[in-house]
Amino acid sequence: MFFTRLTVTIMSIQDTILVTGGAGFIGSNFVLSWLQAAGSRVINLDFLTYAGNPSSLDSLKTDPRHLLVHGDIADGELVASLLRQYRPRAIVHFAAESHVDRSIVAPDAFIRTNVQGTFALLEQTKSYWSQLDSADKPGFRFLHVSTDEVYGALGPHEPAFSETTAYAPNSPYAASKAASDHLVRAYHHTFGLPVLTTNCSNNYGPLQFPEKLIPLMILNALEGRPLPVYGDGGNVRDWLFVEDHCAAIRVVLERGRIGETYNIGGNSERKNLDVVTAICDLVDEMRPNPVIGSRRKLIGFVEDRPGHDRRYAIDASKIARELGWKPAQQFESGLRRTVRWYLDNLPWVENVRTGAYLKWIEQNYAERLAL
Ligand code: NAD
Ligand code: DAU
Repeated sequence: MFFTRLTVTIMSIQDTILVTGGAGFIGSNFVLSWLQAAGSRVINLDFLTYAGNPSSLDSLKTDPRHLLVHGDIADGELVASLLRQYRPRAIVHFAAESHVDRSIVAPDAFIRTNVQGTFALLEQTKSYWSQLDSADKPGFRFLHVSTDEVYGALGPHEPAFSETTAYAPNSPYAASKAASDHLVRAYHHTFGLPVLTTNCSNNYGPLQFPEKLIPLMILNALEGRPLPVYGDGGNVRDWLFVEDHCAAIRVVLERGRIGETYNIGGNSERKNLDVVTAICDLVDEMRPNPVIGSRRKLIGFVEDRPGHDRRYAIDASKIARELGWKPAQQFESGLRRTVRWYLDNLPWVENVRTGAYLKWIEQNYAERLAL
């Protein structure tokens, strides 16, 4: 199903990129920033699962450089026809099931999209790329967006994950992403497909679906609802502002070495409890509410996530050294911007908090015992 129609003229291969999952959190930030930087045309293939929100792309409604296509990466015929029709010079692959808690409750969709979907996309990409002429072939790239979770968990004093850290995925989500990374690697090694892989730490910022820690806590704090911290709140994540991730992907796409992987991180390790406390203080400051009082009082410790990885941290020295990328945003200022964005964009929030969202919140939290 096509949401927008473009008049197709013959365009050279350099004019277009195909983005998958570009109605999700990182994908929509990427598409918006790509087009803002006067980038070339974007064909945005998204299945519009519960996590895909066309309203995140409302500002592009009249932009002829953007075409949102409602479809599945696993639909080989659809992907083949898009590649034939639009002849992209690159594919940036974000589409995935991305929420660890959901992968524990219902892993099937993660295998289907992250493993089988990536496989189907690679097959179609190989076929398209192998038929490009000798002028277009050298410039083509397939960039696979992956996660630091493939490396497993770190102890408190272990060095951060580097590109040579052994894979040790612990959740069904992480295992499905690890499988997709291996497929991407194999398509380069066996068939010569010009791939790039990025493994990134936890993103935060505008347009993140409010099932993930930071937006969930902002909205619960605003509304005076409980703030459910898993376990003892001592788990550590390395937070990266989403705009910095998008900038890193652009750099890897343009200058990354074919077949290489690049770790991307924020150099901002924080304990979950510290993140939630900081959110409470920001919401108190920006939306004081005498009835609710201090939001810190809403924090409660609940039953832990099964197999909960204790610590992630990224060593991003390779991308800094080779491509000159470093995060621009400090965590404290990025978190302030993020809280402000959610408070200023409540209509977006209401639009994404559908029946399916409310059902998930009920399922994930109702039976989680308080500790
Ligand atoms: P998200 O869940 O917000 O968005 C995923 C998007 O993919 C949605 O728009 C959804 O509709 C789409 N999608 C799902 N299945 C599809 C299918 N079969 N065909 C086409 N589209 C489909 O995810 P996100 O947080 O934006 O993450 C994007 C990518 O970045 C994922 O691959 C994820 O593994 C990776 N990543 C995320 C983070 C993070 O902190 N969020 C960190 C590192 C890496
Ligand atoms: O590390 C990169 C990964 O970061 C990405 O690959 C995933 O797609 C992304 O979802 C994210 O995974 P996490 O599991 O780290 O993110 P989440 O926001 O779900 O949780 C962050 C931390 O907060 C984690 O330690 C679990 C905890 N948590 C989460 C929720 C939703 C809570 O304590 N309470 C909650 O209600």
